[in-house]
Amino acid sequence: MNRTELSALKAWFADYCRSFYSSDAGEQRNISLKELHTRNVCDNITAIARDELLNEDRQVLAEVVALFHDVGRFPQYRQYKTFKDSESTNHAALSARVLLESNVLAGFPKDEREIIVQSVRLHNVFAVPGKISPEVELFLKLVRDADKLDIWRVFIEYYALPEEERASAVGLGFPDLPFCSEEVLACLDSGRMVNLAMLKTMNDFKLLQLSWVFDLNFAASFRLLEERDYVGGIAATLPMNGRIEALARRLRRHVEERVASHDAFKRSAREYRS
Ligand SMILES: [Fe+2]
Repeated sequence: MNRTELSALKAWFADYCRSFYSSDAGEQRNISLKELHTRNVCDNITAIARDELLNEDRQVLAEVVALFHDVGRFPQYRQYKTFKDSESTNHAALSARVLLESNVLAGFPKDEREIIVQSVRLHNVFAVPGKISPEVELFLKLVRDADKLDIWRVFIEYYALPEEERASAVGLGFPDLPFCSEEVLACLDSGRMVNLAMLKTMNDFKLLQLSWVFDLNFAASFRLLEERDYVGGIAATLPMNGRIEALARRLRRHVEERVASHDAFKRSAREYRS
């Protein structure tokens, strides 16, 4: 796949998004949010793919996966007026269906189509499944990192806005109560990812987002996370107390350590080659 073909797919995506535009300002905010999210996930995945020294073809393929990863969000929102999968439909499976039913990938080789559709279909699973090809695994990990990096941005911007200006579907409808669930905090304390099924409050949802630092795959993802200080940004919206402060410090340290260990690995690989 080349850059000209990528441009054609971007034009298709822009038209597709436009077909879901709404005259209702509140609904349009939710649609625009996903369109902007897609653009940023494309930028993030390109930054990571370049840092991983993927060749031009693979960089383009990675960007196509990012371009289409949330294409199902638009029909999901039109039908159900929510982005909450548990109350509507699995948006990643719907994204894969949109790709297959629209035939937008019809002109591309079968192996590329499979990588795109599989990576899109699996981008939201709790953990990367064991039984997938190394190719799908690579692109799936790329899109999962690129996606998380922008979801952190979306939430930090969302929390900073006055309620009436927020895109209503972002918060997924969790009640904004002033506490965090013990089960969710314990999960983070032990360095594990929080499961969506555990959440009771909006603060739990923020903690789930923080737990994604345990599920990043690439050096550039940790560097971007550190540069943009998303851990600090999300933590600042939680009720501040000793436990949350200690948690934020620990998560920041985890990110710093991962950046340092990736840098050390790169240095030794360079020395080995020279
Ligand atoms: Fe998604």
